[in-house]
Amino acid sequence: MGKHNVMIGTNVGELNTRQRGDFQTPELLARQVWALVNATDYDLIIEPTFGAGSFLATTPEGSDSAILGWEIHQEYYARTLARFAGRARMQLVHGDIFAVTGDDLPIATNTAALVIGNPPWVTSAEQGVLGGRNTGPKRNMKALAGLDALTGKANFDIAEAIILHLLTVLAECRTVDFVLLTKFTVARNLLRFLGPLPQIGDFSFRRIDTQHHFGAAVEAGVLRFRVGPAPLTRSQCAMHDAIDGPCTRLLRLESGRFIYDDEVYRRNAFLEAEGPATYVWRQGLKHDLRDIFELSERDDALYNRRGERVDIEPEVLCQLYKSSDLFKGQSSRFVIPVYQRDLQDTLAQVASRWPKLWDYLESHAADFRGRKSSIYQKRPIFSLFGIGAYTHQHFKVAVGSLYSEPIFQLLEPAPRRAVIDDTCYSLNTDERAEAIYLLAILRLASTRDFLLAISTAGDKRRFSKDVLSRLYLPPYAHCPAALARVLVEEWDTERQFSEYAQQSLVEWLRYQRELRIPSARMAQQPVLF
Ligand SMILES: C[S@@+](CC[C@H](N)C(=O)[O-])C[C@H]1O[C@@H](n2cnc3c(N)ncnc32)[C@H](O)[C@@H]1O
Repeated sequence: MGKHNVMIGTNVGELNTRQRGDFQTPELLARQVWALVNATDYDLIIEPTFGAGSFLATTPEGSDSAILGWEIHQEYYARTLARFAGRARMQLVHGDIFAVTGDDLPIATNTAALVIGNPPWVTSAEQGVLGGRNTGPKRNMKALAGLDALTGKANFDIAEAIILHLLTVLAECRTVDFVLLTKFTVARNLLRFLGPLPQIGDFSFRRIDTQHHFGAAVEAGVLRFRVGPAPLTRSQCAMHDAIDGPCTRLLRLESGRFIYDDEVYRRNAFLEAEGPATYVWRQGLKHDLRDIFELSERDDALYNRRGERVDIEPEVLCQLYKSSDLFKGQSSRFVIPVYQRDLQDTLAQVASRWPKLWDYLESHAADFRGRKSSIYQKRPIFSLFGIGAYTHQHFKVAVGSLYSEPIFQLLEPAPRRAVIDDTCYSLNTDERAEAIYLLAILRLASTRDFLLAISTAGDKRRFSKDVLSRLYLPPYAHCPAALARVLVEEWDTERQFSEYAQQSLVEWLRYQRELRIPSARMAQQPVLF
């Protein structure tokens, strides 16, 4: 390692297991990661956070590259150092990887470097809560365009910061291959910010079974990418469903948005909305008091979730649908009082219109005052959110956002008006035929494929407003009357749409889309909701 001094400072303070994002890699998995590279191709191998040393222990035989490793935790460092004592060309450091600079490393303009390992699995926000400071010196990351935006974010993963830090530290090298176990969100953020840079590319992500290897249910895998002259692919990532399996789909970044399965997307791209939307997806009711608001009917009486009997005016009640009801296609299990017009409503009329409801709300005023979210501050005490004129419309086509399949349901007033909770989104109308028309589009196999191709199971709220709003939904008024009639007839008799009707709908949608209505004309069309 010659003149280079790698013994950097060890003033790292004491971080606990969670602050260090400590998930030690089983050696079997480390071996599988090593199998993805040819270790003899590199002059220098870096394990930025070696922990108990799984990657060091499984370095393939025959590699005579220099190996450098860092570990912040004294106990791991001491144990791993003892394990590899006397190993030629290996240098292990007790220290903070963020304190390393290019001057500390044996690198030159012809160095081929490999960064391999498993950086911490913890976000800066989690660390904030845990009281740790492990985010690295931001000044070092500013060398690369676009990185400010990433590191300036309120919340980012420590693994992202470590990778970005190493990018600047290793900037002198001829090539650097990164082969690291990371969460999928880390890979996606890096692709977003590094993808546009000309010298970075050849991204791949190989999914691993985290439950099996780490006992944690996280979408994670082996992220690989290359920094160097002329990468073969850029702004895309080859996705593998298994570490040793073939590439099954291409993740691509287009105009700043992700496409998670390029082939499926291309087949259904006619469903991508362009221009201003005719229909607005609305999130459901938010109240943060399920014990008080979710009422069940038993023996002609109403009970809240605390088991208290509730006596309120029946005309203020709506059927409440939750994500699970929509996903399973089941009837609503609760009713809910909906007494607010919209976000401007001062609730001044509630006491006189529904005195029994008012008594019920008043008797739980302490619960309302205890609602933590800041949205309720400076609002009338019994305020609801996610409410507007749309909430009171008669027909809704709704989907639960938290599931991995987009299952759309038509909600009709039966007998009461239907509302959804804040884990769901809906399109709303007072016209039944229009609701059936929207349901028919939303239940097409092409719609399902399109929504799955532009979203990912790794996201908690997979079918978010952003995702749903990308779907092309031409105004009902444009739908040929004969087609609209068939859809209603089929729904009324079969509760489903025939192959023929679905095909006609797809052809019509393709045709509408190909007309490529100029944006100016689109803008003149009325926004219905
Ligand atoms: C996910 S574990 C993986 C450990 C090891 N690479 C493996 O694959 O088994 C992350 C490791 O990073 C270490 N670590 C956390 N922050 C660090 C930092 N700033 N510098 C060096 N090591 C750090 C933790 O102590 C922990 O051992």
